[in-house]
Amino acid sequence: MSEELLRLENLSIDYKVKDGYLSAVNDVNCVVNKGEVFAIVGESGCGKSTVAHSIMNLLPGGNEEISGKIIFKGKDLRECTRQEMEAIRGKEIGMIFQNPLDSLNPVYKVGDQMAEAILLDKVDKQEAWNRVIKLFKDVKMPDAEERVNSFPHELSGGMRQRVMIAMMLSRNPELLIADEPTTALDVTIEAQILQIMKELKDKFNTAIMLITHNFGLVAEIADKIGIMYAGEMIESGDVFEIFAHPTHPYTQLLMQALPSKTKAEGRLKTIDGSVPRITEKKPGCRFANRCPYAKEICFNENPEAVFVGEGHYCRCHMVGKEEK
Ligand SMILES: Nc1ncnc2c1ncn2[C@@H]1O[C@H](COP(=O)(O)OP(=O)(O)OP(=O)(O)O)[C@@H](O)[C@H]1O
Ligand code: SF4
Ligand SMILES: [Mg+2]
Repeated sequence: MSEELLRLENLSIDYKVKDGYLSAVNDVNCVVNKGEVFAIVGESGCGKSTVAHSIMNLLPGGNEEISGKIIFKGKDLRECTRQEMEAIRGKEIGMIFQNPLDSLNPVYKVGDQMAEAILLDKVDKQEAWNRVIKLFKDVKMPDAEERVNSFPHELSGGMRQRVMIAMMLSRNPELLIADEPTTALDVTIEAQILQIMKELKDKFNTAIMLITHNFGLVAEIADKIGIMYAGEMIESGDVFEIFAHPTHPYTQLLMQALPSKTKAEGRLKTIDGSVPRITEKKPGCRFANRCPYAKEICFNENPEAVFVGEGHYCRCHMVGKEEK
């Protein structure tokens, strides 16, 4: 029986903006179990990074309004104090950011930044430094002994991603949130990073929330998938089940847009029309203006997520109900 690690319950996040607010995330529900890879996919701007940052309580703007629950190991992280959250961050939940430069301090050498985190474990300086070099080698950093003395701006995108992953390995978190960890990388490096993530999962039973545009990566590593559209998780479930039986019209269109039958090389394609910017919570399905099956009800009522099979949920009026 799988053991639950993270549960998002009715998570909604609005950003206050000049002209009112932007509903970036709406009523997202999902569960990530120990040792499981949960992939989140969706077009640019659909709220993936907002979900990721909210789990870490690291939304950068300070202009957000959150409701719902973020339950990690039975505790609602939204009720944690700043100190409690600091203790959880890195140690229990690690994050690889979409842009690693955002999370590396530009004025410290990368090795020193890592050693600082390791020193929190009360080891002596030499031991910390030895661990840094070993971790750099573990993530296959070229010239590891030299690179520990580099500043972040002196490293390539792939090397910075490796530093981020090495930092995660040093803390050995139970949950790793990886926000597009390979988007900026060439395919060889992408494959190596993927291998490192797989090892993490296999060796340490690390759960990974993987945010990606790359369906190949999903097919390769993920156990479950959640598809997001305009701030909502419109379908979620077991990867094989959803690749074999996509149920939501948006998921079906995404799958049809993939080039190969195995989906193995597919990257997420955009489909006709564009994702609406939701600045008013009007009733209705957020996909209605692009959906080939939209009916009257779709413009008047927001569909609830309905159960369509084991662990498989879909948010569409045409699914799990008699047609109206
Ligand atoms: N601090 C903020 N203030 C106002 N709007 C924001 C803020 N941060 C994000 N947004 C908006 O919220 C929406 C969701 O953004 P988010 O970064 O979560 O998308 P994403 O799915 O990660 O996109 P991408 O694939 O491009 O990384 C976007 O419309 C974005 O412009
Ligand atoms: S609820 Fe209606 S508009 Fe939305 S996806 Fe389903 S059929 Fe399409
Ligand atoms: Mg993002």
